[in-house]
Amino acid sequence: MSKRRLSDSPEPHDRPAKRPETESSRDSPVSTTSLTYPSLHSSTSLRPVPFQQPTGLLTFSYTPKRVLEFTHSALRYYIDPPPGADLRYGYERWIKRPEEKSRLDGLLRAIERVMEKADTSMGTGTGQKWLRDMSVITWRGVMTKILTAPYEERDGCELNAMCINGTIYLEEHHTDARLAEKEDLAPRQRQQTYYGYSFESWCTSSKPGIPERIAGQPIGWGGDVDTNVQWCSVIKTKLGDNRLVIGGEVDCVRGDYKGRTDTFVELKTSMSIRGPEDEARFEKKLLKFYMQSFLLGVPEIVVGFRTPAGRITTTQSFKTIEIPRMVRGKPSAWDPQICLNWGQHFLSTLKSMFTKDAISDQPVTTPRIWRITFKPKEGVTITSLDADGVKEVQGGEDRVGFLPKWYYDLASASGPLSSSSSPVTPVPQTSHPGDGTSQRAPGSSHDGWNI
Ligand code: A3P
Ligand code: MG
Repeated sequence: MSKRRLSDSPEPHDRPAKRPETESSRDSPVSTTSLTYPSLHSSTSLRPVPFQQPTGLLTFSYTPKRVLEFTHSALRYYIDPPPGADLRYGYERWIKRPEEKSRLDGLLRAIERVMEKADTSMGTGTGQKWLRDMSVITWRGVMTKILTAPYEERDGCELNAMCINGTIYLEEHHTDARLAEKEDLAPRQRQQTYYGYSFESWCTSSKPGIPERIAGQPIGWGGDVDTNVQWCSVIKTKLGDNRLVIGGEVDCVRGDYKGRTDTFVELKTSMSIRGPEDEARFEKKLLKFYMQSFLLGVPEIVVGFRTPAGRITTTQSFKTIEIPRMVRGKPSAWDPQICLNWGQHFLSTLKSMFTKDAISDQPVTTPRIWRITFKPKEGVTITSLDADGVKEVQGGEDRVGFLPKWYYDLASASGPLSSSSSPVTPVPQTSHPGDGTSQRAPGSSHDGWNI
């Protein structure tokens, strides 16, 4: 394998520090590429990177037994929480989903279904063509971490990446040791984590507009927390040149659910603000709230402000698209355009590396697996994994890299690993289970969800 040149690196934050590689075997690490984060001072010199209004493809639910079904069984409706709601309520009855490797499997099942629907309505092979137009497939949490990385001051993060037919798949990498650590939270941390879920229960109901009434429980309690249960939305969007398919959990919808993303609501808790320092801390946190919601097309974020002991003092609803303007010019300001510009640069770099790798390595039997490491305040390194690294990623399961074998067979069914230049294939708006409604937001456009 030859040393890689990243010829398509955009200005101005690209300072790739590349080390020459020495090996060409799939069993050895062959290269490391480094990217540094952009300057956070101003985005005025950056080329604006458009972000397309997300379009819903489909939704699905996880049941208490963690079975994925294409139903609305886990859909919840927003309702104002009772005044002074106690977030400690029901803690002893919390059914906590065990910590596990955050695989893409559920999202891939949804993609298979989107492809089947495309084949049915527009002819065999349409699904495959549609998939090939996608640059990236991942969970919303992963995209949030990528885009907010330039501003991250504390937490590092590792991703696994692979590329099939020009589409990049990204999952978060957790070692067994890290998973055990997350499972074994200190009691105080565990309690605080529960606050967020408890808020979701107080703020949601099984019917639109009517507080839940469950025998033996206070009015408004939406039901004991079971973190196995989730309602997820899968959307497609475009960041600059890259088409993305992103899946993520949606906490609830406001009013009736009409099959569109424009009634989605994200719920968040935060400590009550008592002074300028708290305010600055909150405004910093708003970047993650904003990006997490923005990526899935969630237009509203309801924040429950709480006391240290877990009592809700006030709630406040934020319009997602208005948040960047709220923080502009403040000491704790952040600029989403810096994040989007960085995201475009990061994804284009991956695409360039992975497709060049596939071309230079023909014929290829299995795709290379990459590790992407985010170091706060420094940047990112992208390294190919050796055989032991790949084995760890597979985790002893029937997988090619981190993708389940059945999906790998589907996605690599035809064409070379490096193909990525097919023309854009329209795919019909997939109807929603149960209601047959298109999910395209009225008036949506390529920059309709721009900032
Ligand atoms: P808060 O965000 O209100 O703290 P989400 O808001 O992303 O839907 O997640 C729901 C809740 O899950 C969070 O509520 C928090 O309690 C918990 N949670 C999510 N991600 C977490 C993380 N990385 N560490 C700890 N708790 C987390
Ligand atoms: Mg939430």
